[in-house]
Amino acid sequence: MYQYIVKPLLFLFTPEKAHHISITILNVFLIFPFGKNVIRKLFFIESASLKLTKKNITFPNKVGLAAGFDKNGSFYKSFQHFGFGFFELGTVTPIAQPGNPKPRLFRLPKDEALINRMGFNNDGVDALVERLKKRPYNIVIGGNIGKNKNTPEEDAVNDYLICFRKLYNYVDYFAINVSSPNTPGLRNLQDKEPLTKLLNALKKEGSTFSVTRPILLKIAPDLSKEAIVEIVDVIKETGIDGVIATNTTISREHLKTSSTEISAIGAGGLSGKPLTEKSTEIISQLRNLLGDSYLIMGVGGIHSAKEASAKLAAGADVVQLYTGFIYEGPSLVKKINKSLLKRKV
Ligand SMILES: Cc1cc2nc3c(=O)[nH]c(=O)nc-3n(C[C@H](O)[C@H](O)[C@H](O)COP(=O)(O)O)c2cc1C
Repeated sequence: MYQYIVKPLLFLFTPEKAHHISITILNVFLIFPFGKNVIRKLFFIESASLKLTKKNITFPNKVGLAAGFDKNGSFYKSFQHFGFGFFELGTVTPIAQPGNPKPRLFRLPKDEALINRMGFNNDGVDALVERLKKRPYNIVIGGNIGKNKNTPEEDAVNDYLICFRKLYNYVDYFAINVSSPNTPGLRNLQDKEPLTKLLNALKKEGSTFSVTRPILLKIAPDLSKEAIVEIVDVIKETGIDGVIATNTTISREHLKTSSTEISAIGAGGLSGKPLTEKSTEIISQLRNLLGDSYLIMGVGGIHSAKEASAKLAAGADVVQLYTGFIYEGPSLVKKINKSLLKRKV
C-alpha cells in the first residue's frame, strides 16, 4: 500500500510538505483508540530475542530512527508504534534557529536518495527538554547535539556543553554531531585537536552526574582512511563509548540523476542508496580498529533487510534509518526485525 498509494501521493508534494502531511495524518489517526492498535498490528514486532544490551542501554530491537527526522522530539511517541527500538532526536542547538531558506530538501528518485541542506532548523534544546519530560521509558532515546550557526568555531565546545547538560537527565545516550555538511565549519571539529578538546570537555561534564550516559561520535562518510584512524585514536584516548557512521556525504559520484539536475539542486548532504556501501565500509574499518567493546551504530542507505544485515555483519551493533524509511515506508522496520528474528531461530 505504501509503495503504490501512499508514496505516489506524498511525492506529489515538496519533500518537507510531505513530511509534515504524513506526520499530521498519523497523529490524527492515532487520536482514535483503534488507530494505535491498527498500526501496531500492521507494523510492530516485539520479541525478547530482538533485544540488545550494550554500554548499559537495553535496545528493544536494533532498528532506530536516525537523527534529523524528529529534530524536536515532536512525534517519536507516535512513531514508536511502527516498531522502532530507538529514536535519535535532534540535532538540537542551544538556541532555536530557522535553518537555511527553502527549498532545502530534494528527492532524487532515480537514485533513491535525498539531498538536504536543512542547516539544523530546530526549536532549541529547552523545547526538546520540555517534550522529553513525559517520555516513555520502554524505548531508547538519543540526544543528537550540535552548535548554533552563529556560534564561532572557537566557542563551539560551549554550545555542545549547554545541550549536553540540559538533556542529560532525559536521554539514554548522546550523539555528538560534528559531521553535518550544512553548518559552516562544523566538520572541522573532526580534526584531532578540536575533537580531543570537545570530547574531553563532554567526558568531564558527564562525570559530574551520578549516572553515566554513553557518548557517541557521529562522523562523515567523506573522511579518508587515515583520518578515521586518527579519529579512532581520539575516541580511545578520550574514553567515549562509540561511533555513529555515517552522516550524509558531500560526494555526487555515481549518480543516475543528471548532472544538470544535480547542479540545479546545489549544496547539501546526499543520503540514501548512493551511501550504502561507503558507510558499510567505514563501519567495517571502525570495528576492526575499535574492537568489540565500543558501541557502533550503522546508518546510511539502508533500504532493505539485506542492507541492514550487511551493516550488522560489518560490525554495527544497531542500525538507523532515514532515507530508506521515506522510499520504502514503515514496513521496512518490520522487514528488518523479521529477518533478524529469522536469523535467531
Ligand atoms: C532531511 C535530513 C535531515 C537530517 N538531519 C540530520 C541532523 O539534524 N543531524 C544528524 O546527525 N543527521 C542528520 N541527517 C543524517 C541522517 O541522520 C543519516 O545519518 C543520513 O541521512 C544517512 O542515512 P540514510 O541514508 O538512511 O538517510 C539528516 C538527513 C536527512 C535526509
